[in-house]
Amino acid sequence: MSGMAEFNSASNADTEREHEVQTGLLRELCKAAGANGDPAVVGEILARLIDYSQAHFASEELLMRMKSYDDYEEHVEDHAQMLDALRGIAAEHARGETALVAGRATETLDFIGKHIATRDRRFADSVRNGL
Ligand SMILES: [Fe+2]
Ligand SMILES: [Fe+2]
Repeated sequence: MSGMAEFNSASNADTEREHEVQTGLLRELCKAAGANGDPAVVGEILARLIDYSQAHFASEELLMRMKSYDDYEEHVEDHAQMLDALRGIAAEHARGETALVAGRATETLDFIGKHIATRDRRFADSVRNGL
């Protein structure tokens, strides 16, 4: 395998692992909020999820810029929308509107699941093909 092919394959493996952590945190959030769980635990999961998502999106965006990827603008728009949604949930939670968290977390999990299956998949295919 050439140096670039190795880099591309390692990048895709890293991204896949990050998606597992990201969707795992979201499922944890749905569970913690849905079961009328401890608000402190819900807040802690939310904070970790936002930090992790910021770091994950930044690394995907850096790789897209390195590859001069053609769907960059729309892809970044999706990331911004997801971060807005997560920050909105955290703000509601901080105001004590915790009853809304489970529903919004489920919607966001659905959105991120679709993003991973479409835009992230398209980018991973492009990286795999060395484009
Ligand atoms: Fe992603
Ligand atoms: Fe993405």
